[in-house]
Amino acid sequence: MHVKLLSAVSLALLLSGCAGITTRSGPIEVWPDMKRQHKFRAQSANSNFADGRTQQLPPEGTVAVGLLKEDGAFYTGQVGGMYVGRNPLTYDKATFELGQKKFNTYCSPCHDRTASGHGVVWKKLPTFAPANLHEDRIRAYPDGEIFDVITNGRRTMKGLKTQITEKDRWAIISYVRVMQRQDGVMADVPPAQQADVR
Ligand code: HEC
Repeated sequence: MHVKLLSAVSLALLLSGCAGITTRSGPIEVWPDMKRQHKFRAQSANSNFADGRTQQLPPEGTVAVGLLKEDGAFYTGQVGGMYVGRNPLTYDKATFELGQKKFNTYCSPCHDRTASGHGVVWKKLPTFAPANLHEDRIRAYPDGEIFDVITNGRRTMKGLKTQITEKDRWAIISYVRVMQRQDGVMADVPPAQQADVR
């Protein structure tokens, strides 16, 4: 009986913890808590640094973990000031499907799902003329140039770099290339579906 009572009491003590219960006077501190100590607050003056601030700017060239963008071709679409010719992604089903999804989300409102340039925005406002991406001029663009258009925009088209990641931009380009290909032959269609082609 005693043992049971004792363990119930110690369990209650354990569960209540030291700081778990809200009390008016605060929990008992056997040793002073670390939150009360000598320290500099973010905005407080600090004579240790020449500029007298506590919060220091990171040294020039500092890159946060995971944000190093070393691969220039991948992140800018250019090498030595020239547009890269070929998309750095491997062309496979996953890339095309990602590109299709992102194109239909971000580009089709203006350029239409077929890339004709006649999306819903154009229907409402034909004078804002999104380009027809099947034009020979655009078909002849190196992949890096289309990357630049998506990233920074061009003339009346606004850049979309804050909305679309670099990888997704390249995937979109691979899908645009698929749509631009107009010399498809029956051999491109899987045999099982050839009969459905009209
Ligand atoms: C808000 C509407 C809008 C969206 C969204 C949009 N575009 Fe455009 N895009 C335009 C317009 C308008 C032009 C014509 C720009 C001009 O020539 O003044 C254009 C032009 C282009 C051109 C040709 C640029 C050139 O050099 O003439 C490409 C390539 C292009 N867009 C690709 C894309 C892709 C890929 C996406 C999706 C990631 C996209 N656009 C999203 C409106 C849009």
